[in-house]
Amino acid sequence: MGIDREHSQLALAREAARDRGLANATFQIASLYELPFPNASFDFAFAHALFEHLKEPLQALVEIRRVLKPGGLVALRSPDWAGFFLLPTRRIAAKRLNITKVFK
Ligand SMILES: C[S@@+](CC[C@H](N)C(=O)[O-])C[C@H]1O[C@@H](n2cnc3c(N)ncnc32)[C@H](O)[C@@H]1O
Repeated sequence: MGIDREHSQLALAREAARDRGLANATFQIASLYELPFPNASFDFAFAHALFEHLKEPLQALVEIRRVLKPGGLVALRSPDWAGFFLLPTRRIAAKRLNITKVFK
């Protein structure tokens, strides 16, 4: 499940998923501050190039934590002058999620 508050971004995400043959990826309009999901819905949350745009990043993290299952993982990727920061690292995230394909 992917979210953004702009339709144009969802269209791009759907296209990218189609190109990669990801048939189980779904996307919907939502605000990160008010996610339309019950508590403890997900094992993993990932935000890409988003947190640097938020006025209330801590509030967003609290909301992400609400929808994560206990022990769930949140990963953030943001650009900086020298490139991108990704925490936790791909290796740690992939190991934790027991996946290899997405994080190659
Ligand atoms: C630089 S774009 C990155 C888009 C996409 N994540 C990517 O990596 O290509 C930042 C995105 O953050 C979204 N955004 C900003 N504030 C948001 C919020 N409160 N809830 C959901 N999306 C938000 C904007 O709509 C915009 O599409």
